Amino acid sequence: MHGRAQGHPGRSYLPSSPRLPQLTVQMTDSATLPTVYIETYGCQMNVSDSELMLGKLAASGYQPVDKPDGADVILVNTCAVRDHAEQRVIGRLGELKRHMNPNTVVGVTGCMAQRLGPQLLEQARHVSLVIGPDGYRALPELLAGARHGQRSVVVEFDSEEHYEDFQPRRTAGVKAWIPVQRGCDYRCTYCIVPYTRGPERSRKLDDVVREVRAVVADGISEVVLLGQTVNSYTDGEHDFADLLRAMGRVDGLRRVRFTSPHPNDFSDRVIAAMAEVPNVCGHVHLPMQSGSSRTLKRMLRRYSREEYLDCVRRMREAMPALSFTTDIIVGFPGETEEDFAETLSAVSEVGFDDAYTFKFSLRDGTPATRLPAELTVPDEVAGERLQRLIHLVRDGARQRNMGIIGRHDEVLVEKVSRRGELLQTRTRDFKTVLVPGDESLIGQYLDVQLTGTTGSTFTGAVIQRRRPLPLAG
Ligand code: SAH
Ligand code: SF4
Ligand code: F3S
Repeated sequence: MHGRAQGHPGRSYLPSSPRLPQLTVQMTDSATLPTVYIETYGCQMNVSDSELMLGKLAASGYQPVDKPDGADVILVNTCAVRDHAEQRVIGRLGELKRHMNPNTVVGVTGCMAQRLGPQLLEQARHVSLVIGPDGYRALPELLAGARHGQRSVVVEFDSEEHYEDFQPRRTAGVKAWIPVQRGCDYRCTYCIVPYTRGPERSRKLDDVVREVRAVVADGISEVVLLGQTVNSYTDGEHDFADLLRAMGRVDGLRRVRFTSPHPNDFSDRVIAAMAEVPNVCGHVHLPMQSGSSRTLKRMLRRYSREEYLDCVRRMREAMPALSFTTDIIVGFPGETEEDFAETLSAVSEVGFDDAYTFKFSLRDGTPATRLPAELTVPDEVAGERLQRLIHLVRDGARQRNMGIIGRHDEVLVEKVSRRGELLQTRTRDFKTVLVPGDESLIGQYLDVQLTGTTGSTFTGAVIQRRRPLPLAG
């Protein structure tokens, strides 16, 4: 039926069908609505896409449920960034068979769907839909077809698509993910994302502002602006600095964060906007990837060690209290002990509050596959470097965190902590503080004093509750 066509980005594959089945969902009686369960892997962009899909399906007569058991539709929204991420999904797809009833439709969406395309249909016979990140508009029709036995693959990029008319069904509690950009035009040699998410494009500033005003009117006071290189945002008329300044003018919006920026896109204008707009939080996640210029060059990151450190310096000059977190890859092909030592020294020099650290994973189709095989770093070497790096990051964070015990902070209460006795709250500079209190405080701001630290998270004492701000509008 579908042969061995490759799941290359940009290809679309739809089996021909003489009769398109009718959409048979009922809109009136919620007890009879078909149910949909979505499980999400990968980055915040995927989480945000799942919210868009859930919203679209709810508007099309589906009832979202939070367990897969017996759901009429199960969607797995996948990540392809490392091999491990894909292996987890493959395992999970097998497991999900146990939760299916005879009529359940299983779809795979997201980056792994884009990467593998029709191969996924062949490998997993119980999967009927494979839809890449730009194909969600057709979900209701594709699901209706799948419920009548049709199997489809949609992996075409659409460089205009932002799902502007979808109403996301938000799942992030006290904050809201706001996608402002899709795709990526960088071509870091290790990275699959440009091939799974297509070309970079930005939403219109007015559309972003409208969405943010709507979430604030719903009682949410923190937004996270999302894009793969979010600070390269441009809608043709406005850049990221304009976007931040527009966020500063939204009444009732108390906290603005963004992820992930690229060091090369921190223009003076953007740094000035960050420093001058009061609701932009004093934390930046600034992926470094490596501290060695040689390795950075091979990664095609387009900056050297010195340029990265200079970016940090420029930002600290404008915002002395800014806190930094980062992403680092160890064991990239050709990384020597000397290169790795440069990563360690850059980590110490910047003083990151946290770092997401990864062992390099070779992804099919990325430029890194063309590097000579003899450059491969043995797994044990990469594993050992990863451990050293993790220790250095932890030790640095512990020291810095011990140094701020006693500090007074404004925190936003996010949720009841995992152990259930305390509330999990967040400072403006992204530190987690556990404080006593009950559920009724979720979404509120408190003044706390940091009383202790485990090294990574804090305990705090509540000094006073802030008065809720009047809602905008
Ligand atoms: N757009 C973001 C990152 C997207 S992927 C940026 O440019 O920073 C998230 C992180 O996964 C990357 O920052 C990188 O550290 C890591 N990563 C990406 N590809 C990887 C690979 N092939 N192996 C290991 N880690 C990888
Ligand atoms: Fe991947 Fe580089 Fe694009 Fe980030 S900037 S998504 S690491 S290609
Ligand atoms: Fe993964 Fe795709 Fe995000 S590969 S990290 S889900 S952009």
